[in-house]
Amino acid sequence: MRIILDTDPGVDDALAIMYLAAQEDAEIVAVGSVHGNVPAPLGALNALRVLDLVGLDPPVTVGAAKPLAQPLQTAEFVHGDDGLGGHAGPPPRGSLAPGSAAEQIVRLARANPGELTLLALGPLTNVALAVLLEPDLPDLLRSVVVMGGAVTVPGNITPYADANFYHDPEAADLVLGAGFPELVLVGLDATEQARVGADWLNALSELSGPRADFANKLLDHYGQFYSTMFGEHSCTLHDPLAAAIMLDSKLAGYRTMPLGVELTGTHTRGQVVSDLRSISSDAYISTNAGAGRVPIKVAEKVDVPTFLDQMFNSLKS
Ligand code: BDR
Ligand code: CA
Repeated sequence: MRIILDTDPGVDDALAIMYLAAQEDAEIVAVGSVHGNVPAPLGALNALRVLDLVGLDPPVTVGAAKPLAQPLQTAEFVHGDDGLGGHAGPPPRGSLAPGSAAEQIVRLARANPGELTLLALGPLTNVALAVLLEPDLPDLLRSVVVMGGAVTVPGNITPYADANFYHDPEAADLVLGAGFPELVLVGLDATEQARVGADWLNALSELSGPRADFANKLLDHYGQFYSTMFGEHSCTLHDPLAAAIMLDSKLAGYRTMPLGVELTGTHTRGQVVSDLRSISSDAYISTNAGAGRVPIKVAEKVDVPTFLDQMFNSLKS
């Protein structure tokens, strides 16, 4: 699978890059950063740092600095001031590629029609901008996998919204309504199942080597945040799970439905809006933010043991 990665590293984004680097069937063709966990320029430098650690050097471009229609809001309180739990270290060796992340998506999709999979692990600003630049983008990509949203479960950054959709609701709504024929949403419905506890984290801390050492440092920081929140040593592997489901769709079960995103709610801005009623929409009121949209494949039940084994093994190498 040839992948364009859109990301806001970010601890779990960094772990997703490390996971992908260890998969023989995955090739990261290009990377774009986006505002989200940290500002986009820092996210791009962090992507270079992690790629260097795992011996990859795809082009990395800086993406959107701000959401489409709201002020920038970042999440250093989760990921640390440097986005990598205080372990970013010296400046990366690689340098950034010219142009914007959205332009890079469009250029690569036009040059390789039907071949590339877009994996979006941050707010969807770059992807939305790419759709605006190239309205045929849905037909030029092979598939799109998005980590974001909470369809049937509570949010994380608010009671209703996951952080990626909350950080740019307009972009999320635009992408969900853009007509991608194959869009898989790996939201909190799936990723909250990928919460690792003390046993898994302790076993990982027994591993050594450059990848495991770095992952353990990141997870120490990330785990502390989760421990404060949940009162136990744990953390959730959102972005690595999205990467794993992209490579092996059988890791999850799915429900397919059109989706929108709440843009005006007093308390619910950034919430995924869906019609979960099990009634015929012909027979009843069909008001639904997703009406008329191409259905989205929403990941639900996850094969957690298989995923966690894969994640663990990817950090051994
Ligand atoms: C998502 O938000 C970010 O904090 C994580 O990197 C992940 O992509 C989870 O809601
Ligand atoms: Ca992310």
